[in-house]
Amino acid sequence: MLRYLTAGESHGRSLVAILEGMPSGLKVDPAKIDKELKRRQSGYGRGKRMEIERDRVEILSGMRGGKTLGSPISLLIPNRDWENWKSIMDPIRPGKGGRVTRPRPGHADLVGALKYDQDDIRNVLERASARETAARVAIGAIAKILLAEFGTSILSQVIQIGAIKAEVEDLKISAIKKRIAHSLVSCPDEKAERLMIKEIDRAREKGDTLGGIFEIIATGLPIGLGSYVHPDRRLDGRLAQGLMSIPAAKGVEIGLGFKASELPGSEVQDEIFYERGRGFYRRTNNAGGLEGGMTNGEPLRIKVALKPLSTLSRPLSSVDLVTKRKVKATIERADVCVVPAAAVIGESLVALELANALLEKFGGDSISEMKRNYTGYLKYLKAR
Ligand SMILES: Cc1cc2nc3c(=O)[nH]c(=O)nc-3n(C[C@H](O)[C@H](O)[C@H](O)COP(=O)(O)O)c2cc1C
Repeated sequence: MLRYLTAGESHGRSLVAILEGMPSGLKVDPAKIDKELKRRQSGYGRGKRMEIERDRVEILSGMRGGKTLGSPISLLIPNRDWENWKSIMDPIRPGKGGRVTRPRPGHADLVGALKYDQDDIRNVLERASARETAARVAIGAIAKILLAEFGTSILSQVIQIGAIKAEVEDLKISAIKKRIAHSLVSCPDEKAERLMIKEIDRAREKGDTLGGIFEIIATGLPIGLGSYVHPDRRLDGRLAQGLMSIPAAKGVEIGLGFKASELPGSEVQDEIFYERGRGFYRRTNNAGGLEGGMTNGEPLRIKVALKPLSTLSRPLSSVDLVTKRKVKATIERADVCVVPAAAVIGESLVALELANALLEKFGGDSISEMKRNYTGYLKYLKAR
C-alpha cells in the first residue's frame, strides 16, 4: 500500500513529503519531478508569488544511485520566499508583523481561526494555502514514473474557465496531447483559449477571480484496479476523495457524470463487444473507464470543477476577528485563475491513487516482482 504525508507552511522554510510503499528498483530522475513542479507553477492567471518560487526538489532518503530502495522516500522543496519571511515565520521566536485579522469569505480563515483558537489568521492560512500541493505534485511525479513502467500515462485538459467553454467533445486523446503542449491555459480549443485569456485579463482588471473545469485522462490502465467488494476499496470513491482535496475543488464527475442522470440507461451504458486476440472491449466510454469501482480497460476520464478563488484584490465585506468591526477582507498576494495549475495537481493525485491501486493488485516489494505479477495477469486476461 502507498501512503504519504506532507508538511510545511506556505512561507515557512520548506515543504516536506514522505512517500511510503514504493517498490525497490524504480529509476527516478529528479529532473522529472522538477518538470512537474514547474508545470504546477505555470499557466496564465497565476500571481506574483509564482515569479518568486522556482521549485526544485531535494531527495533526502529512500533512493540510492538513482533508484528507489523500497524504504520511505522523503523529499524537501525549499521555499525561496523564506528569506523574506524568516523573521515572521520563525518556528520558535517569530518577529512582529504579518498578522492577519480580516478573514476572507470562502477561505479557511474564519473557521480555521475559530476551530484552532487563533487570533492571527496567518496561523491558519499558511497551511490552508495551496502551496502545500507542490509537495503532492512532487510525490505524484514519482507515482507517474511507476505508472509509466506499466504503460499508464496521465494528461489533463482545461475545458472551462469562468463562463468560457471549450469544444472538446470529439477530440482524440492524441490530438488533445498535441494541442495543449503550447497552450497557456492547457486548453486544446484555440478559439476558447483566446477567450479564456481575455476573460482572465478582464477579471484581473476588475480585481476579481475565476474558476473553471479541468479533465484528467489516464490511458493504458489494466482491467481490474480497485474493487467492488468493499466501499473503501472502490476506485471511483478514492479518486473522487483525492481530487476533492484540491483546494477550491467543488465537484467531481466521472465519465458522463451529471449528464448521465438525465439520459435513459440505453444511451448511457457502454455495450460490450468481443474480438479474438483483443478480448472484451467497448465502442463508447460514458463510464469514464470505471465500472463497479474498478477500471474496465477504457481510458479513465474525470472532470473537476473549481470555484473562483477567495482572495480578491477588490475584497468583499468581512468582520475583523479581534475588533468585531465591519471591514474589507484581507488581500494576500493572489492568483486570478489557477485552473491549469489545479489540473497538474489533479494529475498527481490521480497518479497517487492509481499507483496505490496498481500496488494492491500486483503487490511486490520490487519492480521486477511487480512486473512478473502484472505480465502473468495480462496473459491470463488474454486467455479469457
Ligand atoms: C493551485 C492553487 C492556487 C490557489 N491560489 C489561491 C490564491 O492565490 N488565493 C486564494 O484565495 N485561493 C487560492 N486557492 C484556493 C484556496 O486555497 C482555497 O479556496 C481555500 O483553501 C479554501 O478551500 P475551499 O475553497 O476548498 O473551501 C488556490 C488553489 C489552488 C489549487
